[in-house]
Amino acid sequence: MDCRSIGVYDSGLGGLSVWRELRHRVSNESLIYLGDGKNCPYGGRTREQITGFALSAVERLVKEDVKMVVVGCNTATTAAIETLRERWPDMPIVGLEPAVKPACLATQTGRIAVLATEHSLSSDMFLRTARHYASGIEVLKVVGRDFVEIVEANAEHTPRAEMAVRRVIEPLLGSGIDKVVLGCTHYPFLREHIERVLSGSGIDVIDSGEAVARRVEWLLERYDIKAPEGNTPTFKFLTFADEEYRKRIEYKAKQLL
Ligand code: DGL
Repeated sequence: MDCRSIGVYDSGLGGLSVWRELRHRVSNESLIYLGDGKNCPYGGRTREQITGFALSAVERLVKEDVKMVVVGCNTATTAAIETLRERWPDMPIVGLEPAVKPACLATQTGRIAVLATEHSLSSDMFLRTARHYASGIEVLKVVGRDFVEIVEANAEHTPRAEMAVRRVIEPLLGSGIDKVVLGCTHYPFLREHIERVLSGSGIDVIDSGEAVARRVEWLLERYDIKAPEGNTPTFKFLTFADEEYRKRIEYKAKQLL
């Protein structure tokens, strides 16, 4: 039993899509969410830069005495997960990878699309996973242009969002794919638009949030660090940006519940 919080980290607001899954799955666990905000978006940055941001973020969460860290960011995971695990070998650190494996196992057409940031799609980790699970399957790599910026601007429910999604998703219609993987934690916030464009096409959307929450639940059990039954969880929100951004994270989180 362990009452300490689980730390959840992302470049910005996107990791709240993982935070929401954790709230549902491990609802008596306290959570400390760190949305960098100052250096977001990470997607076009170098591996070295992202690794530096991720080290500072996890360091900050460790100072808060977290018992586990969930890197709720595919981009930071592909860049830095190995470095983070080397630096904190005794703490469970869960990473997020685009759900290539389930999509490859489920595809009937032998063709899938992975939507993610530029960095994630060109990372060694992604290429390794794709090589491993996607032999004989064609993987279309698609960058969600402007998606992260839209979510960061809280502009999901605007014509800008609708247009950006149409620009990226419409070309996938008729491409022969039957699965689209949301490989960035910001993208689930645009899921409604994505599904609207895909409706009637027979293309399914696959997201990793729920699978990660299940993995966290399993690790809590395995390390024997679950919060006790009946624990009243607390929620804290941190950022490297300013107080206004911190409040935006908190507000968005509350809206998700
Ligand atoms: N939410 C992040 C991800 O899952 C990164 C977005 C960004 O900062 O570019 O990849």
